[in-house]
Amino acid sequence: MTKKITVLKGDGIGPEIMDAALQVLEVAVKGTDFKYELDYKDFGGIAIDNFGEPLPKETLDSCVSADAILLAAIGDPKFDQSSIRPEQGLLALRKELGLFANIRPIKIPEVIAHMSPLKPEYIEGVDFVMVRELTGGIYFGEPRELTPEKAIDTNIYTREEIVRIMRVAFEMALKRGKKVTSVDKQNVLATSKLWREIASEIALEYPEVTLEHQLVDSCAMLLITKPSSFDVIVTENLFGDVLSDEASVLPGSLGMMPSSSFGSTGVALYEPIHGSAPDIKGQNVANPMSMILSVTMMLRDSFDEEQLAQKIEAATDAVLGAGIKTRDLGGTASTSEFTQAVIAKLA
Ligand SMILES: NC(=O)c1ccc[n+]([C@@H]2O[C@H](COP(=O)([O-])OP(=O)(O)OC[C@H]3O[C@@H](n4cnc5c(N)ncnc54)[C@H](O)[C@@H]3O)[C@@H](O)[C@H]2O)c1
Repeated sequence: MTKKITVLKGDGIGPEIMDAALQVLEVAVKGTDFKYELDYKDFGGIAIDNFGEPLPKETLDSCVSADAILLAAIGDPKFDQSSIRPEQGLLALRKELGLFANIRPIKIPEVIAHMSPLKPEYIEGVDFVMVRELTGGIYFGEPRELTPEKAIDTNIYTREEIVRIMRVAFEMALKRGKKVTSVDKQNVLATSKLWREIASEIALEYPEVTLEHQLVDSCAMLLITKPSSFDVIVTENLFGDVLSDEASVLPGSLGMMPSSSFGSTGVALYEPIHGSAPDIKGQNVANPMSMILSVTMMLRDSFDEEQLAQKIEAATDAVLGAGIKTRDLGGTASTSEFTQAVIAKLA
């Protein structure tokens, strides 16, 4: 059956890296049974320009009825002082689609290990996934209050919210290294006590998976001193926000990091972890790997097309291995030169 993919190119370097990734996809699927159609929609700053809002109804309708969504990046400095901002579209889309799980794989190809801020011996063998709860916790809890004298934020987690994100993590670990690290602050927070209790309960359903608990402060240190010890890290919204950004600097460039978010409706959103990089917009220098690898995540996780995903990943690895790298990785290849090199490996 033909899969429907909603394509949101967004702002800044978004259109450049999306075009690159879609060219790669087109060549990779040639001669296979995988059939897809693309539905291009405005989202973010470009949607504010064309529709007056970052998430127009026709964009949302397309996303809701899609089999998967590809998003490049949104954000434009021209909206910095505006009351309507591109980023509001992303929060609205997450809410509408109930995207409660955010997944960031962190893997560092050997050929770019020298770009990492860590010494090579710390980086060797790093291959883990960060699973962050995205719709609960202190970012959304009520009441909140801000006066000159007092400020209140409320951290709330329900059993149901914790159970569903734990299951995501354990299912993922089953297909990987069979280890889950659950991160909390159970020595201080009530929400973390419940978090830890439920993590231990769910672990009983997955006897093949080893569960370890880490306090968030200790996990922050281990991400620097022993990142190769992790397989699947699962944590709540606030801790995940901080730890996933800490983890994202390990490869040395944001330009090669994909992510996915999925939730209750079944449709998943695939996007690079970085923003719209307005500083390099339109210069044909952006690294398209983050978007290409977002496409491989989609092929694997939404469409069960493991072979196709591996084929594309092997091609990008081979191109990097041949020393063809974009500027962020210390190379000189342009976006289009890198993309054509990947396509040449696939053809
Ligand atoms: N999910 C999203 O769409 C998302 C995420 C983060 C930030 N933003 C928005 O993006 C805009 C820019 O934010 P920022 O500059 O703080 O962060 P950014 O991630 O866009 O850029 C940070 C740095 O990384 C570089 N970079 C990012 N992606 C790259 C790539 N593929 N290749 C090479 N270099 C790359 C940029 O040139 C810049 O120097 C803001 O409007 C922000 O709100 C959007």
